[in-house]
Amino acid sequence: MMKRLSLFTRCLILFVVIWLFLRFFIGGVWSVPLPASVIAMYIGLILIAIIVHVSVEDDRFREFLRPVKETLADDEKKIRRMVLGVLIPLALLGFTFSKVSTKADPPAALRTAHPAPPDELTYRDKVIGPTQEVENPFRHLEKDDVEAFKAHAENGRRVYYQNCFYCHGDDLDGEGHFAHGLNPLPANFQDPGIIPNFQESFFFWRISKGGPGLPPAATPWDSAMPVWEDYLTEEEIWDVIIFLSEYTGYKPRTFGEAAH
Ligand code: HEC
Repeated sequence: MMKRLSLFTRCLILFVVIWLFLRFFIGGVWSVPLPASVIAMYIGLILIAIIVHVSVEDDRFREFLRPVKETLADDEKKIRRMVLGVLIPLALLGFTFSKVSTKADPPAALRTAHPAPPDELTYRDKVIGPTQEVENPFRHLEKDDVEAFKAHAENGRRVYYQNCFYCHGDDLDGEGHFAHGLNPLPANFQDPGIIPNFQESFFFWRISKGGPGLPPAATPWDSAMPVWEDYLTEEEIWDVIIFLSEYTGYKPRTFGEAAH
């Protein structure tokens, strides 16, 4: 029969198994993202629990420390002492090296914040037309029927404050309550580099298809921007685009105009 493992070894095995479980199983097999700080906290608690467990009784504590003392003092354990004397510094060296040598990994490719839209603009499965030609069907009201145009802007305001402000901010500046947890950050529509540089069809594409509709060039980070065509009507999307430009005072690009 195998010799019963010492208390020290059993505790060590338990500790390593729990660590491996937290480190690789939850994140790897279950794909639950577990921050290193949470793992460190759990490991700390486990360590405390083990120390409490072995130290409540004097006998048990002596039994726990026995292999440690033997290893340090017994003549028979000379070889083990030497092996550990080499392995422990090596492990520490490896650990230090891994900490020092890990640089903040740059993303495999630079993220394109404003990738080119697809050639065809769609709402759900319906084709609206070529992205380079489709205009906001309510934009002409700005000249033709000011009251009707205002009603669309007003509807866009409602859509915005019902759906968008908690990421893009009360003031459209990208500082919504949820913004801080997101990477990439929600777009800041007060930034002059956004609205004036794109046509309304571009915004229609981005709002209707959201982060999941972005081409690979816009990865590696996943955008939290929802797929609004699942929740909003076509008209609501055009209206919220009108609201974005009315509120900020920036006019989207029109066709034929070059990007600045
Ligand atoms: C859960 C948070 C969240 C909500 C809610 C949200 N967005 Fe976004 N949005 C984002 C993030 C993050 C980005 C930046 C990444 C990207 O471009 O997908 C973004 C990007 C955009 C862009 C692209 C801007 C650009 O510069 O290309 C537009 C347009 C936009 N959002 C409009 C809206 C509108 C309109 C609503 C409401 C109907 C809305 N968003 C609701 C998170 C959100």
